[in-house]
Parts: sequence; structure tokens; C-alpha cells
Amino acid sequence: VAADPTSGSAFFATDRGRELIAHLDPARIPSHVAVIMDGNGRWARMHGLPRLAGHRAGAEALRELITAAIELGIGVLTVFSFSSENWTRPREEVQGLMGLFVEVLTRELDNLERLGVRVRLIGRTDSMPAPTLQAFLRAQERTEHLRTLTLVIALDYGGRAEIADAAASIAHDVADGRLSPDAVDEDAVASRLYAAGLPDPDLIIRTSGEMRLSNFLLWQSAYSEIHVTPVLWPDFDRQTLLEAVIDYQSRERRFGGTS
Ligand code: FPP
Repeated sequence: VAADPTSGSAFFATDRGRELIAHLDPARIPSHVAVIMDGNGRWARMHGLPRLAGHRAGAEALRELITAAIELGIGVLTVFSFSSENWTRPREEVQGLMGLFVEVLTRELDNLERLGVRVRLIGRTDSMPAPTLQAFLRAQERTEHLRTLTLVIALDYGGRAEIADAAASIAHDVADGRLSPDAVDEDAVASRLYAAGLPDPDLIIRTSGEMRLSNFLLWQSAYSEIHVTPVLWPDFDRQTLLEAVIDYQSRERRFGGTS
């Protein structure tokens, strides 16, 4: 997180920055933006660096995204940091990433607190190394009261696993007589998701050009607008975010109805 939350102003003073701001409708900023941060490995290869260097550069891009989201008035930011499928990557990369999460969270916690960022973790926690889980739990506890931006970090997260966990919780409640089978509706599922209570994402951004959701927020994305940019995650910046929000504002959201 940048030391100066207004550090984006330099970009807004450039021609491209001014042009983008002129196209932005401040009354229609998405409340919840979710991001599939893809392309760290390709970025590293392009620069002749090890994959972990790509993830490190990705963590810097996340810093910029957080400050830019606050500047725009986005309320919730969800980032896909490690999927349930990512455990199959080489051991060295998995360990490197788990260590990087601890390092970044420890280093940035004061900044996040100062910016008013509430950290929330979603995903399964049983396979996570203890130091990584502890760093996240500590960040959650320290920032629980903050509301400028809610940063939801998806770690060991899978959308199908999340829905399966909600189904298991419903099954338990029905078996124990706390819930009637006839009362199982969409709210019963939604209220058992990992980040229950937060709004669904209005906009999902995916970097590095891949046009798929990759098991991210499957339930919550029913009516999300999807913006795919060819930019590799470590190169993501304010300009990329503004372009995504402007694209979002050009869409007509009908939620299954007519215009
Ligand atoms: C996908 O790129 C990226 C990841 C699996 C890791 C994302 C993690 C960060 C950006 C660090 C965030 C830090 C905190 C504290 C949450 P890839 O490796 O799949 O890229 P490729 O498709 O080009 O190989």
C-alpha cells in the first residue's frame, strides 16, 4: 500500500489520466470489484526472472489496486490470490507464495490499517501452513472495525468447494432439525457462503487475456459484468482499473429483465 494515498494524482494529471477521468461517471462506481490476478508467471518469463519474482511484482500491483480502489470509492475488493487447484504447482512455488503472503501482510498491515482497509479471508483454511493462516487471522482481527475498503482475499478458494460447503452446512441444519427442507432457498445458500453479507461483485476483472472464471465466485457472479484485459497482472495499474470501470459503465445491466 502506497505511503501516500493520493499518490495516484500524478497519473490523473497525465493526458491519458485526464481523458479517462472525463469518461468516468462518479455516480456509477461499482460497489464490489473482484479480480482474477493472472499472468505473474508469464510476466516473470518475459523479464527472464523466476516465477516467484512475478508474484512479488504482483503483490506490488495489488498495492496500487488497493489505493486506486479507495480513490475511486469502491467499497469491496475481492482478489483471487490462491485457488484450491494451485496446490498442484511445484512445491517451491507454493512455499514461495505462502511465504510471500506472510511477508507482504506483515509489512503492509500498518499501512492497510491507516488506509481504513478491513481484511477478510475466504477459502478453506485446513491445508494452509500455520504461519500463513496466522498472518491472515491477525490482519483480520486488527482491521475488523475498518470500513473504507473491505479487501477480501481468496486463498485456497474454489467456487464449487464454497457451494459444496454451504450445501453441507444446510444438510447439517436439516438433519439437526434447525431448518426445514422446504425452507432451503437461494438465501439459505447465500447466507452460508464464506463472505456472506457482502454484496455480489458488480464487476469481475481478469488480467492476461484468458476468458474464463476458473472456479472464482461461481454463485456470486450470476449477474457480474466481466472485463478481460490483456495486461499481465504485475503491469496492472490505475489506468487499467479506470479502463475496466469505464467499460463496466458502458454496459446495460438488466439482471434478466428488459431495458
Ligand atoms: C496467477 O498468475 C497469480 C497467482 C497464483 C498468485 C497471486 C498472488 C499475488 C499477486 C500476491 C498477493 C499478495 C497478497 C498478500 C494477497 P500465474 O502464476 O497463474 O501466471 P501465469 O498464468 O502467467 O503462469
